[in-house]
Amino acid sequence: MHQETTAARPETTAHTATTAHTETMTSAATDPTRTPVHKTVLMCRPEHFTVTSTINVWMDPSKPTRTDVALAQWQTLHDAYTRLGYDVELIDPIDGLDDMVYAANGGFTLDGKAYGAKFTYAERIPEGPAYMEWFGANGFEVHEPEHVNEGEGDMLLSAGAILAGHGFRTSLDSHDELRGIFDREVVSLRLVDPRFYHLDTAMAILDGDNIAYLPAAFDDAGRAELERRYPDAILVDEADASVLGLNSFGDGRTMVIAQRATGFERQLRSRGYETIGLDLSELLLGGGGIKCCTLELRR
Ligand code: ARG
Repeated sequence: MHQETTAARPETTAHTATTAHTETMTSAATDPTRTPVHKTVLMCRPEHFTVTSTINVWMDPSKPTRTDVALAQWQTLHDAYTRLGYDVELIDPIDGLDDMVYAANGGFTLDGKAYGAKFTYAERIPEGPAYMEWFGANGFEVHEPEHVNEGEGDMLLSAGAILAGHGFRTSLDSHDELRGIFDREVVSLRLVDPRFYHLDTAMAILDGDNIAYLPAAFDDAGRAELERRYPDAILVDEADASVLGLNSFGDGRTMVIAQRATGFERQLRSRGYETIGLDLSELLLGGGGIKCCTLELRR
């Protein structure tokens, strides 16, 4: 299946990428009470990364992609996680699966169980079984999905509840499957802006209790639910969200974010988070960023 989209394509102009000079690290005024939670993540090297279809509005197959730049930028993310003390596990990339680098979509894991992904578009369907095979071989009880869902791209764990997106990729029926598999409340949130087609492009988990999000990416009911649950959330503006600033990942103390999301960076620092800014502009050509390249493993 191949979807042509008529919506305006967001700006994905690549910045010059190097491994060493693209990173900014700030440590001023980090709140000493913010203690990091040890993270284990799964990543996939973008060895076969390219853009050959238009399954989201960011993608333009007529724009050239540079696999070497994608690899170098991805490495900066991998190394940032390693330096933060995360355990980074790797799944082998498969030739022909352009998007496999976006590991977040490979499933959702919690309490030693892995709920597999069932992708919307034909281009990505083979990733579902590949990730499930990896989960099975790496200590997870695998739950094969009945309904269409794109894993942690649309399912984020926060404050004991699973926040689950739908509207573009993940089906509402899969939220019921989640309820059956995991002993957690599942909060369904409808996404309404095609630029923010996965929940992890419209929302970031900051720590166990708080989140950041772009209000306009959700329908009225979703916004009301988020306001009620997270009165202290960071509300991110359109400019930062449009460089996939929300597509970020952290350990409760340090957030790894898109370097170009400078407003979000300031917001985070004013709340006492440390930030690491990275340039993943090449991977933005596929409509993904930091969080998309990161699948949290919760054994
Ligand atoms: N090209 C990929 C797709 O459209 C990008 C996935 C981004 N992943 C994410 N977790 N938001 O499926």
